[in-house]
Amino acid sequence: MSNSSLELAGKNIVLGLSGGIAAYKAAELCRAMVKEGASVQVVMTEAAEHFMTKVTMQALSGRQVFGSQWDDTAVRVNGEGIANNMPHINLTRGADAIVIAPCSADFMAKLLHGRADELLSLMCLARPIAEVPLILAPAMNREMWANPATQRNVAQLKQDGNTVLDVGEGDQACGEVGDGRMLEADEILADLIAFFTPKSLLGQKVLITAGPTYEAIDPVRGITNLSSGKMGFAIARAAYEAGADVTLIAGPVSLSTPRGVKRVDVKSAHNMMLAAVKYADYATIFIASAAVADWRPTNPADQKLKKDGTGDVPQLSFVENPDILATIAQSERGKKGLSGMPDGLFCVGFAAESQDLLVNAQAKRIRKGVPLLVGNIGPATFGQDDNALLLVDAKSVKELTRASKRELAKQLVADIAARLGQSA
Ligand code: C5P
Repeated sequence: MSNSSLELAGKNIVLGLSGGIAAYKAAELCRAMVKEGASVQVVMTEAAEHFMTKVTMQALSGRQVFGSQWDDTAVRVNGEGIANNMPHINLTRGADAIVIAPCSADFMAKLLHGRADELLSLMCLARPIAEVPLILAPAMNREMWANPATQRNVAQLKQDGNTVLDVGEGDQACGEVGDGRMLEADEILADLIAFFTPKSLLGQKVLITAGPTYEAIDPVRGITNLSSGKMGFAIARAAYEAGADVTLIAGPVSLSTPRGVKRVDVKSAHNMMLAAVKYADYATIFIASAAVADWRPTNPADQKLKKDGTGDVPQLSFVENPDILATIAQSERGKKGLSGMPDGLFCVGFAAESQDLLVNAQAKRIRKGVPLLVGNIGPATFGQDDNALLLVDAKSVKELTRASKRELAKQLVADIAARLGQSA
């Protein structure tokens, strides 16, 4: 993987730890950010040092960890050593963000009031506010989180322009169960990547179908296909990162839901159709990446079909499934979207072909009545982590060369945003 494909390549992040048992997750977060190409400068409060050692954070970040405003070490910012005895200034100059994880209730209260009696809060106050955003990952007991004082502080911190991440829910170190635990490192990492993504789909409501469908033959058997759903899930993630409100209708797949995405699980093409028609009413963009079964058994058996020893095989008959994409694209809003009207639904179809991709994709675009058709070679992509796409519209063809589905999803989202006149 080249450096530029790392999600945080070139980013300078200051990772601040305040006191809390969730400090152990900060070690993992630091490592994950470094792995994604970020330079991480760790700053810890004295309270944080009760939960995590500087040695651990130094080893993981590869940089000296700071903890005192009186530290007279030459601070290195972007490789420059500045021996001016001002870590609270130097540490954030050139930084892309400060992430406080864990951010305790007390630390939020301090930030809110602009207090500055130790290095971390002093550094936050002294940062260039327009250039260095502050991102907080709260971590506390559920009663502390629910307390009106904390909720007031969260609201005010947001109003002041800071980003306060969600909290997790579940078992807490204190033995209680509820809201307030810090997000997991991978969740904070995903939120951070989303934070840095240009908001090219802000205000858009994106509906996506993904994965295969499953058409029952009897209660234990059915017909499906090899679609993994990875492409559609990657598009859902990229659309959310680009600022869209995203609903993902997923056939039976074993993939976790991208953060921030609303997921609706379905099994059959019929269920997928019902869900798609329902959510399409609220959408502005519809992306049909699901590999919907073309046919389903006419009369699925109520009980398991059994061998009877005669050698006779069941005679299955099939009916055609509804075409979800064509139905939605040919609705009133779909037609408006095709002719580029602002209140229309912009529909994007996928074509998984095994040969003659361009010709088939062009024909399919017209047949479905969509402004954009994305072609790919089915056998070369199903279940894989990478793919190559051909974007076909009424006037042109654009090739997105072989890359990870993650990368292609970002490119496709940027392309759709540009078509809708929204480029960040
Ligand atoms: O006709 P074909 O299955 O090749 O068309 C592929 C495109 O149509 C994909 O975007 C797929 O999600 C969508 N489709 C659909 N409902 C069907 C069949 C395909 O939405 N029943």
